[in-house]
Amino acid sequence: MNRVFSGIQPTGDLHLGNYLGALRNWVRMQHEYSCLYCVVDLHAITMWQEPDALRHNTLEVTAGLIASGLDPKSNIIFNQSRVPAHAELAWIFNCVARLGWLNRMTQFKDKAGKNRENASVGLYAYPNLMAADILAYKATHVPVGEDQKQHLELARDIAQKFNNDYGVNYFPLPEPVIQGPATRVMSLRDGTKKMSKSDPSEASRINMTDSADDIAQKIRRAKTDPDALPDSANDLETRPEAANLIGIYAALSDMNSDEVCKKFAGAQFSAFKEALTERAVSVLAPIGAEMARLLENQDYLDQVLIEGAARAGAIAEPILHETFRIVGLRRG
Ligand code: TRP
Repeated sequence: MNRVFSGIQPTGDLHLGNYLGALRNWVRMQHEYSCLYCVVDLHAITMWQEPDALRHNTLEVTAGLIASGLDPKSNIIFNQSRVPAHAELAWIFNCVARLGWLNRMTQFKDKAGKNRENASVGLYAYPNLMAADILAYKATHVPVGEDQKQHLELARDIAQKFNNDYGVNYFPLPEPVIQGPATRVMSLRDGTKKMSKSDPSEASRINMTDSADDIAQKIRRAKTDPDALPDSANDLETRPEAANLIGIYAALSDMNSDEVCKKFAGAQFSAFKEALTERAVSVLAPIGAEMARLLENQDYLDQVLIEGAARAGAIAEPILHETFRIVGLRRG
């Protein structure tokens, strides 16, 4: 049976990059597969989080998932720390994965920065927890962005080594479902950097809760180049900011960049930005409004997470039970 698992960190405001790169695709998968969508709060604390902010962000991301169109009845939506299987299986995987494997992870190098000695052990072991997230449910398909591909390969290596070491064919090797480059949304200030919640400039990203005025202003100020829009996407290669705005328009309109170029060929960016604003507002405003409405009712959001955790736990528990037996731990 195919099972989809994906995770999202509750570390800050959800933005257009999260929506076009992840959430929208999750919504599209929800009726084809049995899906688990996890707010990965244990991953969040690999970097410092203010406790109150973390508590709030977990609910806000949950609201974002539901407001984007995920149905909490047909999917399992939950937060990671409520299901102990994640941390338990991660420990076993800490003992399967090799230091040499983790030393190659580029995200650790990026996030730890220059002062690697001062990074948390959790940040280093992050990919093992991610493998546990997936394999606690024997998930087969994992929608992730390009930047998570290396972690997913590590999850496959862990599954393979576990199976080899214990002489079993127990864990499936999960397949990445890589979301295409069309949905890689870049910063509005620098077309070569990913749109990110950690960018200090608010103007670099459009948040899902931004008002129509905020969206209009950020798009108006978005960096461009002096040329008009080209008539072919081939001409965008050396124009990262133009490529990004055209790509965003395309993703919001279910078109490809080349079709957008044909539609706006020769137009000035000022005119194109107005059309883009109109698109962005028409997609995001209803989602932002629904998020605000859901956040008024925190009991409902908590209920979704509690029920989701119970359903997730019911799937993970027998898988963990058997894993512990294979390893020779007396747990059951
Ligand atoms: N590391 C992922 C990210 O930052 C989030 C994540 C955690 C995840 N566990 C996962 C994604 C399991 C897919 C599957 O985007």
